[in-house]
Amino acid sequence: MLNTALLEQEFGYMKGHVYVNSSLVGMPPERVKAACRVFMDDYVATFNDSIKSDLLAKRVRAKENIANLINAAPQEIIFAKNTTEGNSIIAMGYSELKPGTNVIIADSEFPNALNPWINAHQRRGFDLKVYRTTNGQIPAQDIINMMDSQTKVVAISAVQSGWGYFADLKAIGMECRRRGIVLAVDAFQALGRMQIDVQDCCIDYLACGAFKALMGTWGAAFIYCHPQLIEKIAPCTAGYQGAKSHVLAPYVTEEFDKIDFWDDVRKLEAGSQCTYSIESMSLGIELLLELGMDEVERHLLELERYLRGKLENLPLDVVTPADPARMSGMIVLRFPPELTGLAKEIVEREHIHLTLRDGYIRMTFAVFNTKEDMDVLYRALEELCQAIPAKT
Ligand SMILES: Cc1ncc(COP(=O)(O)O)c(C=O)c1O
Repeated sequence: MLNTALLEQEFGYMKGHVYVNSSLVGMPPERVKAACRVFMDDYVATFNDSIKSDLLAKRVRAKENIANLINAAPQEIIFAKNTTEGNSIIAMGYSELKPGTNVIIADSEFPNALNPWINAHQRRGFDLKVYRTTNGQIPAQDIINMMDSQTKVVAISAVQSGWGYFADLKAIGMECRRRGIVLAVDAFQALGRMQIDVQDCCIDYLACGAFKALMGTWGAAFIYCHPQLIEKIAPCTAGYQGAKSHVLAPYVTEEFDKIDFWDDVRKLEAGSQCTYSIESMSLGIELLLELGMDEVERHLLELERYLRGKLENLPLDVVTPADPARMSGMIVLRFPPELTGLAKEIVEREHIHLTLRDGYIRMTFAVFNTKEDMDVLYRALEELCQAIPAKT
């Protein structure tokens, strides 16, 4: 059971709204709201001493929280500014990717999971093997069947952003490990809702942003990198953070041919970072860990099953998979596009927040959602369906 008193304390401010849009942007708990306010107040009040003194401790705590969330070690984690940067670092930097080799991707991916690979393919000359999906479904066996002796990376989102399909990471990861292929996962649509264990799933590289189900805000993401992979990734960006030492005035630099990069994943970190966003992500994760990720996942899947059951009565095309193992606490459905205006009117009137485009609705559940929210959603969809002409 989720701790409802804790949820009330953290999300009481959302009363009167049904927010099922965490796939777009998550809603922060009170502790994250407070941390963002306090960050600036302290910064100004102490003429930035608070940032200097707190920075290290907050980063350490954030890495511990992230490591707990995905079953990694804190020293295998670094921060980035967003998921795109995380995906781009491996696409541009993995040294095994050369002309003649290939990377497996899928056509239903969100652009920020895909464009880093298209860009790297164009610049570095490796091939892309594209899996053509139906309704964003990516069966593990189909991906495994595409692997060949020249495949170096499988790059996949844990959950497809627009389609809700939760990939069988373990099946893909075990086969990748057996063949020496890197499994690179964009986990932005999964973490905070679904449990991912990087060791159990044989994931080599994972990138995830802060502002969706981790309930942080814009400006931070994290990268996990398996220690054995790190020596094969060349940093595309370099500042002092990725190096073992650096030179500051009154001294001047004398070595211009080499940067002494860290041997671990820190070598991929460059430049100053968005401290308050890193802390927000960390606090969001702390709340999830307090609630228990197994409880969170169970709760979201229960909500999904409950609403899916009710939707069976309506003439809507639910495109998210019915296979319980591939559900992700997200329901995507289609309706006649000409009713999009009416759908907008209904959701606005009912204070429902979801993703709505031409004949497309995406509802993504979060810790604070309840069965009552599902009833509100059902009634809204029922009203929409009254405008759908009956099939003869
Ligand atoms: C799978 C996935 N990756 C990445 C992003 C966003 O990338 P970034 O953090 O770079 O904005 C999204 C959605 O916003 C997404 O759904």
